[in-house]
Amino acid sequence: MMIKTEDIVKGFKSAESRWARFGPYYAMFPLDFAFEVVEKYSKEGDFIIDPFAGRCSSIYAGGVLGRQSLGIEINPVGWLYGSVKMKPGDKEAVIKRLLEIYSKRNYYKRAVELMHKFYRMCYCDEVLMFLLAARKHLDWKNNNVDATLMSIILVYLHGKLGEALSNQLRMTKAMGINYSVHWWKEHKMTKPPIIDPYKFILKKIEWRYEKGTPNLAKSYVIFGDSTNELEQIVQITKATGIRFSLLFTSPPYCSVTDYHTDQWIRLWLLGGSENPKAQQEKYKGRFVSQEEYYNLLDDVFYNCATIMDKKSTIYVRTDAREFTLNSTLNILINHFPNHKVKIISKPFQNRTQTEICGNKTKNSGEMDIILTRGN
Ligand SMILES: C[S@@+](CC[C@H](N)C(=O)[O-])C[C@H]1O[C@@H](n2cnc3c(N)ncnc32)[C@H](O)[C@@H]1O
Repeated sequence: MMIKTEDIVKGFKSAESRWARFGPYYAMFPLDFAFEVVEKYSKEGDFIIDPFAGRCSSIYAGGVLGRQSLGIEINPVGWLYGSVKMKPGDKEAVIKRLLEIYSKRNYYKRAVELMHKFYRMCYCDEVLMFLLAARKHLDWKNNNVDATLMSIILVYLHGKLGEALSNQLRMTKAMGINYSVHWWKEHKMTKPPIIDPYKFILKKIEWRYEKGTPNLAKSYVIFGDSTNELEQIVQITKATGIRFSLLFTSPPYCSVTDYHTDQWIRLWLLGGSENPKAQQEKYKGRFVSQEEYYNLLDDVFYNCATIMDKKSTIYVRTDAREFTLNSTLNILINHFPNHKVKIISKPFQNRTQTEICGNKTKNSGEMDIILTRGN
């Protein structure tokens, strides 16, 4: 049966629709936008690439609509959401693993007592012990069942009181330790909600699997840095003759977001630091150096240009602010000199992807740069 974009976007009635929304992520594509672009600018069987895949809506839409799609993402949170939603683990195995992790929680009683007050105000002891067991034992990088369970825990790790495992927090963006403690105190909410983590996560697993699972065998997301990964993809395309028809992406915006700090609580659960520290590693912090930012886009789009079909479409959503927009435009025109360029302000939808994630700053705005080539 042919899956239609409107069925995915409008409801939770099919497996594809239910898993499409998997994973809150800062600055994610609106789902309808991702499906509309893929539908309009590619056809079944085409190859699609997204070198800054985030939670992988572009790649997922490609897979659901019968395209062969490839993403690359450097942030483990985005990568996990993407890889799991395209191939979720077997439900019974995930539930069995949940029980195993839950049974190990009592080993972490003492460790919980020593944790910073942020954690003690955020999670009740049962939840915190369970999270420490999951953090220690789930092999989310290498095992699909563990990855699935871990990513389901990640989805509900923080959010509105009553909807997540945590005390009141934002869902897409993790706030700082001191800010959160101060906020809970001010609102007299220093006691975390009492939750049975086993029952809570089990219910979420049941709901997520209720309509089945998508099986997007021809979609894949690589966990890595596009500047390295693309070099290998270039070699593979040379050997196989594969050409991509649609490059559909949204790069980070210069000096605007720090995807690792925004996700610090989820990254902690994946084994990261207990305190939100800005990362020193390349491309894992805020993009403050204009030169480094320019070089990243230049490198990625240069490599992409060598793997795209002559008649390909390049669809890039980016920040409307001057430096990011002008750099992206210059780089794209340089690497795709024979394409026709069109710049549109927010086609397909009314709100920006950062507004959807709660950004209220006045001067934010997004532009879509579309490069096409006729016959
Ligand atoms: C604007 S977001 C993409 C959001 C995505 N369109 C979605 O719907 O979730 C940009 C993404 O690029 C990723 N990124 C930044 N530098 C990267 C690199 N060198 N290689 C791969 N991904 C990178 C960030 O981690 C972030 O997830």
